[in-house]
Amino acid sequence: MPVITEIEDLKRLYKRRVPKMFYDYAETGSWTQQTFNDNCSDFDEIRLRQRIAVDMAGRSTASKMVGQDVAMPVALAPVGLCGMQSADGEIKAARAAEKFGVPFTLSTMSICSIEDVASHTNAPFWFQVYTLKDDEFMKRLFARAKDAKCSALVITVDLQIMGQRHKDLKNGLSAPPKLTPASILNLATKVPWGLEMLQTKRRFFGNIVGHAKGVTDPTSLGSWTAEAFDPSLDWERIKQFRSWWDGPVILKGILDPEDAKKALAVGADAIVVSNHGGRQLDGALSSI
Ligand SMILES: Cc1cc2nc3c(=O)[nH]c(=O)nc-3n(C[C@H](O)[C@H](O)[C@H](O)COP(=O)(O)O)c2cc1C
Repeated sequence: MPVITEIEDLKRLYKRRVPKMFYDYAETGSWTQQTFNDNCSDFDEIRLRQRIAVDMAGRSTASKMVGQDVAMPVALAPVGLCGMQSADGEIKAARAAEKFGVPFTLSTMSICSIEDVASHTNAPFWFQVYTLKDDEFMKRLFARAKDAKCSALVITVDLQIMGQRHKDLKNGLSAPPKLTPASILNLATKVPWGLEMLQTKRRFFGNIVGHAKGVTDPTSLGSWTAEAFDPSLDWERIKQFRSWWDGPVILKGILDPEDAKKALAVGADAIVVSNHGGRQLDGALSSI
């Protein structure tokens, strides 16, 4: 068993073990990848101010997020296709979050379904939804999250239109992977991943296939996604989503101080600030 001391160790293992199309999905961004690169370099610039002679005995990172006790004020962000990175990936991640005492956020675009994650965990998790056009599907999604006792709804508001992700196009990203000469060659080097995948029944988008209209065939998911996102999303629509959920709502992807104020005005209990706007929001948030 390799000794793992830092994220770079995990990344090396990850690259070795997981098919290229899924590695590239997580490790590259869209278009020129400017935001993706900024996300790393911005954090590199952060230095902590270190004070001395402060009593550090009995220190704790325990805190509260949207009214819930957490071991540290960090939540696992929603990550689509997690169950393709590792068989039953969302269940594994939710269990790890539960064990550690932080919230897990399940993506709409997960492989394991809401019901699946709920039946394999004890702690309530958060559920992330995209702002889709189909009211019927959205309401059903909210109801499924309620039935699964999700403790907060995370509404992603910065994806009205999908960015072009060059590597995903070149790799032919799909779940499960389509067999092409290139993908077969690559899969042949990922045998343990393949064997794990063969042992699970969770290989499709569990929240969508069999639930959304027009997606009885999972291979039509790409076109469904392109058609399902709502380019006309506005604050009235966000207010409507807010009214459909009677628990805590977190708006995810706020980039501008004006939008942060609007988010709170439409009843968001918390916001997730995207890093790209983080620098602008930094000072501004304290006045909100
Ligand atoms: C591979 C990958 C998949 C993601 N999938 C989703 C998703 O399904 N829904 C969503 O709201 N955000 C998604 N995100 C965005 C993350 O939730 C998060 O906001 C972003 O990665 C920034 O956080 P970080 O700096 O900790 O990576 C995804 C990000 C990555 C890298």
